[in-house]
Amino acid sequence: MPSETAAPPGATGTLIDALAETRSRTLALVAHLDDDALARVHSTLMSPLVWDLGHIAAFEDLWLAHRGAGLPLLRPDLAEVYDAFETPRARRGDLPYLRRAEALAYLADVRERVLEAGTQDPFLRELVLRHEQQHTETMLQTMELAHLSAPHEPVLPPSPAGLPGLTGLELVEIPAGPCTIGASADRFAYDNEHPRHALHLPAFRIGRAPVTNGAFAEFVAAGGYRRPEWWSREAWAWKEQYDIERPAGWTADGREWRMDRCEPLDPSKPVVHVSWFEADAFARAHGARLPTEAEWEKAATWDRATRAALDQPWGDGPADDTHANVDQRAFGTLPVGAHRTNVSPAGCLGMIGDTWEWTAGGFDGYPGFRAHPYREYSEVFFGGDYRVLRGGSWATRARVATPTFRNWDHPQRRQIFAGLRIAKDA
Ligand SMILES: [Fe+2]
Repeated sequence: MPSETAAPPGATGTLIDALAETRSRTLALVAHLDDDALARVHSTLMSPLVWDLGHIAAFEDLWLAHRGAGLPLLRPDLAEVYDAFETPRARRGDLPYLRRAEALAYLADVRERVLEAGTQDPFLRELVLRHEQQHTETMLQTMELAHLSAPHEPVLPPSPAGLPGLTGLELVEIPAGPCTIGASADRFAYDNEHPRHALHLPAFRIGRAPVTNGAFAEFVAAGGYRRPEWWSREAWAWKEQYDIERPAGWTADGREWRMDRCEPLDPSKPVVHVSWFEADAFARAHGARLPTEAEWEKAATWDRATRAALDQPWGDGPADDTHANVDQRAFGTLPVGAHRTNVSPAGCLGMIGDTWEWTAGGFDGYPGFRAHPYREYSEVFFGGDYRVLRGGSWATRARVATPTFRNWDHPQRRQIFAGLRIAKDA
């Protein structure tokens, strides 16, 4: 792979560094897996891992070499194979996708021509960087579903234990008042995070912490999956059809799968691998509901003292080990409150990292939305059968884990590292 010194004049060092760091992390994620584990379809919900690798190369070639620098595609014959829209995940196993050696060579060849071309558009470079980073979270979902091992032991600075006594049922009150929602215009954000806009929200209450395994285990034990009054009709039908009895990865004897390890449930950790349907049922069972996106973001960022939104719950500064469990360092969630500084001005803990959190509504553009740079990024999903997730997970790269970032998926999906935080009207 070209080194940083191969960068042409005009390429920004920091972004070249970030592209190189991202690539080395991507390759390290799967270096320990054999060819069969890479090429196999582990779940019809997911692509083969090696498809993700080829797709990362194809996306980079399309945006930085072809559209950014005007070069012809390096491998036009592969365009269809790696077009996520042409072929849904369930059918990707049938495609003539590149196997390990060819996919790695494709990645390296594309990177080399991209560095030579020196595409200047900072938006496109950041788009490609984040695309690769986001695919590594998808790959970790596949690896967890398939019970594949993590590439190495968790690496994190020593964390304090969680805050004792928290279950996720404790609420903080957010008084009625203004807030701003969405990303500021002075930095990279996806089109669906723009434009930042002002809202006035009525008072509401929201969980001080994400719902823990302990609280969710009590819901299961109390017949949560056998009480239709707590489920929407659609959710109940899904649960019955697929015989869902507990969060994905949980065993009947009180353990949970984390990558290739099946460990006793830790009641102090946030619950993961629940669908929106299950999250909604849990909230209903507790006389609560899921927060709206605006409520979630206000609870994460709004500082009443300065009447402004913070970049992160803790203030400025990116998500990193000192603040949050992000960046594929722990290969699982940590006890709620383990990062003491991961607290918003409103007093909400752990809004960034550990688990994505399902929110109440569907996925739509903000008032004044403009698609950029292409309609297929988010606009084609607006108004569909999706729910929005916020906050990132342990598997979200730090650069991506911001409180304005909007992830979305179908309400029945459970492969995401997703849990919930409850809310109530005040
Ligand atoms: Fe993609």
